[in-house]
Amino acid sequence: MKLLVCGGAGFIGSNFIRYILNKHHDWDVVNFDKLTYAGNSLNLKDFGSDARYKLVRGDIADQDAVDRAVEQSKPEALISFAAETHVDRSIHGSLKDFISANVMGPQVLCEATKKYKVPLFIQVSTDEVFGALRLDEKRLFHEETPFAPNMPYAACKAGGDLVCRSYFQTFKTPVIVTHCSNNYGPYQFPEKFIPQTIFKAMADEAIPIYGDGLYVRDWIHAIDHASAIELLLQKGVPGEVYNIGADNERSNLEVVRMLLTMLGKSESLMSHVQDRPGHDRRYAIDSAKIMRMGWIPEYPREKFEAGLRKTVEWYQENTEWVEALRTRKQDMNPHIKTG
Ligand SMILES: NC(=O)c1ccc[n+]([C@@H]2O[C@H](COP(=O)([O-])OP(=O)(O)OC[C@H]3O[C@@H](n4cnc5c(N)ncnc54)[C@H](O)[C@@H]3O)[C@@H](O)[C@H]2O)c1
Repeated sequence: MKLLVCGGAGFIGSNFIRYILNKHHDWDVVNFDKLTYAGNSLNLKDFGSDARYKLVRGDIADQDAVDRAVEQSKPEALISFAAETHVDRSIHGSLKDFISANVMGPQVLCEATKKYKVPLFIQVSTDEVFGALRLDEKRLFHEETPFAPNMPYAACKAGGDLVCRSYFQTFKTPVIVTHCSNNYGPYQFPEKFIPQTIFKAMADEAIPIYGDGLYVRDWIHAIDHASAIELLLQKGVPGEVYNIGADNERSNLEVVRMLLTMLGKSESLMSHVQDRPGHDRRYAIDSAKIMRMGWIPEYPREKFEAGLRKTVEWYQENTEWVEALRTRKQDMNPHIKTG
């Protein structure tokens, strides 16, 4: 297969490309990425010189650049991980970049899919578009759960998802939208919760915990997200929506405690900080639909500890990657206020 992957220099995109190149020796990947602060050339180092791989720098909101990339690479499928992804930046920074990447970007990709008759476009999205669940309810997010985004990031992702839906409904453009829960694994930018905790713990720095720390997220390893997208490339039905999660709800406090134990650090490093405004209490995904198609996560709930331990070991062993990011302190979540 010839794939055009957008946003492949980020966390999940780079894990996806590595997974695909290792598993499918006759598949080619063109990575179209703007290389924002979150796009990291070190994420691409081990496959950067592979003859089956090519990087093209460009913005998914730029129709001419996307058209050129599609025309030249003639992909059998386009998969987009490209987005502005940090919730705190969408709250405290300008929303312009989020609207451009997360709303206009998917529209441009739909347009190129339609114009060049790309057989399949997979728009990678988030469960945050469904809003928040209460801690005391049994309900999970289903594919039919109505959108109710609370965070500006989530609202922009929901906008992009709806644009994709409209292209399928109106033009029969072959697009699939996925809603995945929170990812963890190697190569994640350390402004995000798990790598930030690991970075700070390794340096014996205070670990910020928002509010009471009882926010619940449904954690999935990035490799499991990659294998779910791989399955959809082969068996996904255009116009359908798929939820992806590993049935692994954990509170932030539980995850931080597990990480501190793995790193041999004291809980005294935990520091409660001013809460995120409008913080969504709980996300939880029902993945029955994709599981019925044969997708099995390698790290379901009972293997979370193993997945997390492997992740910790990766950050401990990959000192070049970690040190390169440590020097970019200004990019590391400047919005957290201690209090
Ligand atoms: N991280 C998670 O837990 C999670 C969970 C569910 C869904 N998602 C979705 O998965 C996708 C990837 O998330 P991630 O955590 O790997 O993100 P990331 O921030 O690590 O990487 C984003 C990548 O997109 C690129 N990019 C940003 N704007 C671009 C643009 N306009 N044009 C081209 N490239 C652009 C960046 O350079 C970077 O390489 C996103 O769409 C996100 O919404 C993430």
